[in-house]
Amino acid sequence: MIKTMHQSLFIVLDGIDGSGTSTHSNLLAGFLSLKGLKTFLTQEPSSSEIGKLLRTYLKNERIPASTDALLFAADRVLHYKNEIKKKLEDGYIVISDRYIESSIAYQSSQSENISIEWVKNINKFAGKPDLTIILDIDPKFSLARKHQKALDKFEDTSLLEKVRKVYLNRAKNEGYFVINTDDIIELVQAKIQEVVIEKLNQRGIQTKN
Ligand code: TYD
Repeated sequence: MIKTMHQSLFIVLDGIDGSGTSTHSNLLAGFLSLKGLKTFLTQEPSSSEIGKLLRTYLKNERIPASTDALLFAADRVLHYKNEIKKKLEDGYIVISDRYIESSIAYQSSQSENISIEWVKNINKFAGKPDLTIILDIDPKFSLARKHQKALDKFEDTSLLEKVRKVYLNRAKNEGYFVINTDDIIELVQAKIQEVVIEKLNQRGIQTKN
């Protein structure tokens, strides 16, 4: 029996609050679908029961950072095993709006007792992305975009300054692409698409023009 080659790719867009991960994940999914690729868009916290609990905890200052970290990791393993891995096996391009780098950046910034190594360790059961793109913006501008809405506990400029530093350091060490998002949406999206197309080409994944 001839085994068909799967044209799958696991892409993550990550970055501080207000950096545009949701907007750009949506636009990227639309773009890849138009290119004729089977595309699955997902996000974290996921839609699992743990993900729903985490969304309520985003409003709750009294949850310890270690509890957040462990729950995000538990949610991620479920998300990977039950959704992402299955879609990749079915030949989809999976786009996740946030993934492990969110836990590394946010939870290690929340408490001095939480090391990046520990966060990586508790996340070791979640599969690795093929491509991670960090969307970068100064928190002063990113929070200004959100001022009409009630802010979650992580949406605080001084925390986000720390979180941003971790993202940028990780990007340097891990070789992730960093794209500045303080620009016209279409221009930012075009840069993201360029990086993704290059990766698809490297993998020999064909697209419609
Ligand atoms: P966000 O992605 O902004 O969702 P929404 O657009 O619905 O508000 O909110 C998720 C928040 O959770 C964000 O502040 C980052 C935080 N977070 C972590 O701290 N650790 C994680 O592992 C993940 C996935 C998110």
